[in-house]
Amino acid sequence: MAVDINKLIKQSEDSSMNRTLGSLNITLLGIGAIIGAGIFVLTGQAAAAYAGPGIVISFLISGFACAFAALCYAEFASMIPVSGSAYTYAYATLGKTVAWIIGWDLILEYLFSASTVAVGWSGYMISFIKDFGIVIPDYLTSAPLIQSANGIIASGAIINLPAMLIIGILTAVLYYGIRESAKINNAVVYVKVGVILLFVFVGYKYINLDNRTPFIPENTGSFGEFGWSGILRGAGVIFFAYIGFDAVSTVAQEAKNPKRDLPIGIIVSLIVSTILYVAVSLVLTGIINYKFLGVPDPIAVGINSLGDSLMWLLPIIKIGAPAGLSSVILVMLLGQPRIFYSMSKDGFLPAIFSKIHKKHKTPHVTTIITGVVAMVIAGVLLIGILGELVSIGTLLAFAIVSAGILVLRYKQPDLPRGFRTPRVPFVPIMGVLTALALMIALPFDTWLRLLIWMGIGMLIYVLYSLPNLKKFENQ
Ligand code: ALA
Repeated sequence: MAVDINKLIKQSEDSSMNRTLGSLNITLLGIGAIIGAGIFVLTGQAAAAYAGPGIVISFLISGFACAFAALCYAEFASMIPVSGSAYTYAYATLGKTVAWIIGWDLILEYLFSASTVAVGWSGYMISFIKDFGIVIPDYLTSAPLIQSANGIIASGAIINLPAMLIIGILTAVLYYGIRESAKINNAVVYVKVGVILLFVFVGYKYINLDNRTPFIPENTGSFGEFGWSGILRGAGVIFFAYIGFDAVSTVAQEAKNPKRDLPIGIIVSLIVSTILYVAVSLVLTGIINYKFLGVPDPIAVGINSLGDSLMWLLPIIKIGAPAGLSSVILVMLLGQPRIFYSMSKDGFLPAIFSKIHKKHKTPHVTTIITGVVAMVIAGVLLIGILGELVSIGTLLAFAIVSAGILVLRYKQPDLPRGFRTPRVPFVPIMGVLTALALMIALPFDTWLRLLIWMGIGMLIYVLYSLPNLKKFENQ
């Protein structure tokens, strides 16, 4: 059974956190969370392996799929501006069990993506400081266990120290305050967007249309390897690049005017990122043949191919990438504690999870818990396996949020909504269908891991949360 929605709306009026964020800060948090490993790493790999120059179309397809979900998130965020995001929306519409499922599922999106992107950050940083002659020994820059073609093997390394370090630093910032965190995010976003624009404007002049001919390379005979099926697979892979606009909704209780500013933040950050993604992929596949882009640093490789005159741009790009990744980690580490906070407020998690720091006004306990777990995962665990789960977990949340909009329009048509999803039921139905379609495109192994993760979650639900909820409700 769904909870009384007015109770949740009341919860959104709670002012124990600092309400300091305006629409610009919120939009920049969205851009901070979205633009990262996807554009700086995956674009090239998806172009080289699946879509060729048609990766531009993949970006548009994936962007459209996200737009449906974003419009649904925007309505919920304007109606129930509680920091629990999709978890709260599910609680309001689809009941306790679905709320728990989505809350548990969001750990995949937030906590695991923070760890995954931190490992990517570590790779970029190591290569960056190497250019200055600083070399960190290999055994301190990789997890002890890695996944190879032969299964899980010992890597010979001890720990990924840089990945742990960046999570530690950003956790400290988040502990300290939302205003400070937003300021740092703003600075990082300006750097990364500046670097991307520089690449687009400088690279634009070097586009050679031969590199883009044919725009959609012929399919090799296997599904997903070029041709239209390759474009679709490319869209599935680069979906990762769009993850993050929904993180905006987790700062609902720190927004000055959440009903107006959250929808703006969600929609504008998605539009800006989509434009930048299309521009980067157009330029990148225009300056170099896509076949050379299957590397960890495709943008740097693209610039390298243009000869010595553009060497000045290379160090700038090398700064942009880790900057981009660090704001993704920051916002993901910001979102997770706030979801735990809301789950605890509702009785799903221990009461200590909803403690707010007296001076800093942040959910400091959950911030520390999130930081420590993310550090351990990034430092010692098998990141490859967890990384794959991020996309499927996020898509599940998108499907449930889109379905929730339909349910609530039907059940509570008169609730005040600061923003209304246009063209209901078309948009929410498309939100569900496109999320499911992208989920189906993901490998079977990823589904299996999702099921295992959900199985663990259900055990915790039955053994801890349900009994705790009963006690909580009887208080
Ligand atoms: N969208 C984020 C990125 O690309 C997760 O890094």
